[in-house]
Amino acid sequence: MATPQSRSYITTPLYYVNARPHLGHSYTTILADTIKRHREQRGIQTTFLTGTDEHGEKIEQMAKSQGRDTREFVDEVANDFRDTWQKMGLSFDIFYRTTDPNHIRAVQHALQTLKDRGEIVFREYEGKYCVGCERFLTDTEVNADGLCPDHLKKPENRKESNYFFLMSRYHQALIDHFEKNRNAIRPEQFRQEMLSFLKQPLGDLCISRPKERLTWGIELPFDSNFVTYVWFDALLNYLVATGWPGAQWDSNLWATVNHFIAKDILKAHAIYWTAMLMALQVKPAQELQVSGWWLVDGTKMSKSLGNVVRPLEMEEKFGRDTLRFYLLREMSYGSDSTFTLENYVNCINAYLANGIGNLVSRVYTIAKKNLGVVDFAEADLTDADRRLLSLRTKTREAWDQGFSELKYQNSLKSWCELVTACDLYVNEMKPWALAKDPTQKERLQVVIGVCLRTIQALGGIIAPVLPNAAREIANALHLGENHFDQIEGAIEDRTHFDLRDEIPKLFMRVQMPQAE
Ligand code: MSP
Repeated sequence: MATPQSRSYITTPLYYVNARPHLGHSYTTILADTIKRHREQRGIQTTFLTGTDEHGEKIEQMAKSQGRDTREFVDEVANDFRDTWQKMGLSFDIFYRTTDPNHIRAVQHALQTLKDRGEIVFREYEGKYCVGCERFLTDTEVNADGLCPDHLKKPENRKESNYFFLMSRYHQALIDHFEKNRNAIRPEQFRQEMLSFLKQPLGDLCISRPKERLTWGIELPFDSNFVTYVWFDALLNYLVATGWPGAQWDSNLWATVNHFIAKDILKAHAIYWTAMLMALQVKPAQELQVSGWWLVDGTKMSKSLGNVVRPLEMEEKFGRDTLRFYLLREMSYGSDSTFTLENYVNCINAYLANGIGNLVSRVYTIAKKNLGVVDFAEADLTDADRRLLSLRTKTREAWDQGFSELKYQNSLKSWCELVTACDLYVNEMKPWALAKDPTQKERLQVVIGVCLRTIQALGGIIAPVLPNAAREIANALHLGENHFDQIEGAIEDRTHFDLRDEIPKLFMRVQMPQAE
């Protein structure tokens, strides 16, 4: 029998420090945080890495354009990323920076190893370079106007002598790898996209930049006139964080790695990174999970386009956990979604304030006022009670199915349906009327008990997405703060509930901010 996987390793991209954390970055980071919580609830100890990508032309240009010292500039932005994620309660274990001396040593080791094995050669190259992408684009990649399709800028023509990683040697191995491992890239459409990209000839990867052009990078160990191409440098982070190439390398943890990225950097991960790992004789990543983009006004959010949504400001204005819920419920994973404030506000009001928030306060108010302690006998449950209770397991199953199929939206939808089902049950059972009738005291206990069991399940199931609200629910039901740390805490057949004094106020209704 296969032993269940007890550890896992998940990563976000290392974000460039030429921009401050925005909604696009936070989506991937929030998703990874949710996956970590989801797995840990199921007994899988999960190491979560995020961090910053700090070398390269873009960063150097940005620091210079602000008249700043590059190191001071990257320190400041890296801290901003770390602080933002911390303030948002994101549970990363490793905050990785590519300017860390250990990273630099490991990158130089990788370069030297590949050079010694004849995987790196020196040659002249001419091509179209997009500074935004920090890579050469092929003729088929530019759009009809000759522009980079992601940055809408004309790539520069560059001709220079550089070092190349002989990526083309791995062309067939890449095809075989992605054909054989159906889960290597998910959702499936992106695996197909890479397989069709691999139908064209595969070039070699330019992995150096002459120092006349760029000094802000990792010096090549075999030629001090060059620094390392930023992607070659940055991608190695994932591996180095597991201890590679040292004696302490945790290769078992490495073997579980899932990279969470958006489609803009799929090629770098699927092609460059996989080939690099093959050349280093390290097992390629277990899985790439690829999302679409968050769009604002129909285009990808970006600093240069001035349509940036700041995650922390959103949470401060609209309440903790609300952004997590909205982003995961709204995006159909793998496709693009459009962020609008109006949808965000509507989502908070419909599902959080009027949904779970209202349900909890409604049930809790009646229970506190009339009962305080809830006690009932299993034998007194009616068919209608059992019907609602049985939905708890169904919801948990649908929830887990959504996670395993990367259809997070479906998980959240089925959870919202359980909120609605419980609301309808309250409407039907009318506990407020039972409370007024002295002959219905026992029935009232049962009805409230059924609602509390359902609320407990709702709290336990949603905990990876709404960790703060889940903790408040656990507290209100006197279950102990950490009760939902294990998924088994969600569905229990309790016949006794102690209620705490305060009525939990989970989510407030919010209003569309007035245009300034
Ligand atoms: N530094 C490289 C990654 C190196 S990884 C070794 C990079 N950085 S980035 O700052 O541009 O981040 C890109 C990633 O941020 C995307 O792949 C995605 O995870 C996230 N997002 C940034 N903007 C986004 C949207 N508008 N929508 C969704 N996610 C986006 O590329």
